[in-house]
Amino acid sequence: MYNYSLIFFTKLFPNYIYTQSLDIYMKSTFFQNIVLLLYLLTGVCYANAQGKEYFPDYDPVIRQRLEEWQDLKFGLLMHWGTYSHWGIVESWSICPEDLSWATGARKKGVADNYFDYLKAYENLKSTFNPLHFNPEKWASAAKTAGMKYVVFTTKHHDGFCMFDSKYTTYKITDKDCPFSSNARSNVTKEIFSAFRKENFWIGAYFSKPDWHSDFYWWKKFPPADRNCNYSIRKYPEQWQKFVDYTHHQVDELMSDYGKIDILWLDGGWVRKKTDDEIKAELSDVYENSRWTRNPQSQDIDMAGLVKEARSKQPGLIVVDRAVPGVYQNYLTPEQHIPDTGLPYPWETCMTMATSWSYVPNDVYKPADELIEKLVDIVSKGGNFLLNIGPGPDGELDSVAYARLREIGDWMKINSGSIYNTRMYSVFGEGEKVRFTQSKDGKTQYIFLFDYPPKTIRLKNLIPPKNATLHLMGSNKKLKWKVMNGTTEITLPAKSENYGKYVWVIRVKTT
Ligand code: GLC
Repeated sequence: MYNYSLIFFTKLFPNYIYTQSLDIYMKSTFFQNIVLLLYLLTGVCYANAQGKEYFPDYDPVIRQRLEEWQDLKFGLLMHWGTYSHWGIVESWSICPEDLSWATGARKKGVADNYFDYLKAYENLKSTFNPLHFNPEKWASAAKTAGMKYVVFTTKHHDGFCMFDSKYTTYKITDKDCPFSSNARSNVTKEIFSAFRKENFWIGAYFSKPDWHSDFYWWKKFPPADRNCNYSIRKYPEQWQKFVDYTHHQVDELMSDYGKIDILWLDGGWVRKKTDDEIKAELSDVYENSRWTRNPQSQDIDMAGLVKEARSKQPGLIVVDRAVPGVYQNYLTPEQHIPDTGLPYPWETCMTMATSWSYVPNDVYKPADELIEKLVDIVSKGGNFLLNIGPGPDGELDSVAYARLREIGDWMKINSGSIYNTRMYSVFGEGEKVRFTQSKDGKTQYIFLFDYPPKTIRLKNLIPPKNATLHLMGSNKKLKWKVMNGTTEITLPAKSENYGKYVWVIRVKTT
């Protein structure tokens, strides 16, 4: 029965077929397996025809790590680099595309001429000196908020290494960067060990495109757009140097920085493309004036890169962002939350303020909004990777610390409804009610974004007869009944004792 219900489920979600197939296969009889294989084949064809989004990795170790990662729910993303010194958007201001967040993001009053501007930007290396760098303080603030993993920009698109790469001098540890004389100048190493000490999982953000490397933006030619600026077909040996450079740097990160749990690769335009894809992109350029001027196949040998990385870091979760395939172990919707639950591992990355990197006087989202987003994401089966950009001195904005504390206060009472949970059969009811449940299905959690005057009526969650209901933070049993398919729960008068922002009812079946 179990097998067939899952098979039915996979029909609804063809992409999910792959994730579940191994489980079913192990538990089935020979005849059932024949049926299953035929069914899967149909599913594969169907899914291919639909344009798949998620391609699971069949390795049981990776699957297990993803399960564990899905238990963590809440992580911290940090964008930090020399751009923080100017307090502008990360990297993009040197990208010669006429984009609002690129040209508009340029530091004012530096230079009108692109090449002078680029020179001044790259020269930030000679002044970047974050003397208040104190990753223990960040880790402790993130821990207070209930975060369980961190993803840090070891290298963003501008190519500046926040780690001690021996393959470039464009790095924080180079002698021409004032911070290099600081004992903690290899900030990636320091950040990873500070967070590891607080039991965080460690994620290395690494940009595949590198706008400083001659192997990507060859100085022989002016850069054209975000892409590699020369013809890879014409100069394959130059591209090979770039592939080697990238593999070497990833290898450094995987070898010299302790245990790494997640390799978060950004810059999805660096990827292998078929001729048909390139043709389609080209016609888009001409018909819709899209940004891609140079849409060539940028094959970085992901298979080799991941194999090498996992030989150093067994079980490494790899996120080759926005590149459909087996090297994208989870999907990463950016700055938005999907409308509904998704049947594969995913994570929303979102800024706490408006920019990924530190910009002075940025406006931070209020705590209730951040908590509602966390709940909304978790109810839909996702993780929340919340970004804060440290400032040029190495400090976070005091508002960011305040938000982390407020989220932590909420988590102190309610984190049991977040960690280790999974989607309930429906993610919620209307705009203001969300659900999660424990993995064994014996406990459900009802999240209320507004505190109701006295009673709450629900149609999508009917507790079993012997269930007991509590508001988290209170040990008083709640009165409840089911009438005409509606659950009616009576709540006590609103009180600070059992929290604020979002209230949670625990439905426990013994
Ligand atoms: C966007 C930004 C990029 C940033 C990323 C983080 O793609 O353009 O700079 O690193 O989001 O998710």
